[in-house]
Amino acid sequence: MDPEISAITDHIRSQLSGISGDRHHPMRLAWLATSDQDGTAQVRTIVIRETSNMPVSVSFFTDRRSPKWQETLRHKSGSLLLFDRLEMEQIRLLGVFEHRCQTDCAAAWQAQDAAARQLYSGPAPGTPRDPSVAAGLEPAPGANPDSGKNNFGIIDLRVTSIDWLSISRTAHRRAIFDTTIDTHWSGHFVNP
Ligand SMILES: Cc1cc2nc3c(=O)[nH]c(=O)nc-3n(C[C@H](O)[C@H](O)[C@H](O)COP(=O)(O)O)c2cc1C
Repeated sequence: MDPEISAITDHIRSQLSGISGDRHHPMRLAWLATSDQDGTAQVRTIVIRETSNMPVSVSFFTDRRSPKWQETLRHKSGSLLLFDRLEMEQIRLLGVFEHRCQTDCAAAWQAQDAAARQLYSGPAPGTPRDPSVAAGLEPAPGANPDSGKNNFGIIDLRVTSIDWLSISRTAHRRAIFDTTIDTHWSGHFVNP
């Protein structure tokens, strides 16, 4: 394998494993792209919570009542964009969405603190709010702490390919990787 491709493979793997253990990792916030029912592209910020290098997978928590849950069920292929602004490095993860809920995400639910659990206990995301209710993280009217567990879900992106791009004053480098081969990814440079 091209030693430069091999070094970039190691670098991306190290970035992915670093994200889950470091709350301040520059790529912990990522952008999830989906298509809604009308085919309109929808993009939003998510926090990457878990990563795995074998098979390559990236996971985030969400409310199962949110549109993104339905959208990723309907169109199982999708992508997540990771970007380090200081290093000017972009990683596009392409793959297939998988969904976990109830017992499959019980451990993650248990690990959430009370404030985080509260977020899943009120009305569904996007429900109009009574203007007389102050905005904040206090329980929303009608919140039921026990229902949060049912609303909590985890979406995993099983990554099948990676489009890596590094921009600098002296060189722009872009490489595409097939990550479906467990032990080593096949990668090649392309024109940025
Ligand atoms: C900094 C930041 C982090 C966020 N993290 C998450 C997250 O991890 N999971 C999530 O479902 N929404 C997260 N959101 C909210 C989403 O971006 C989005 O506004 C919300 O989930 C509704 O999305 P939807 O209507 O497209 O489903 C975050 C927003 C911000 C600004």
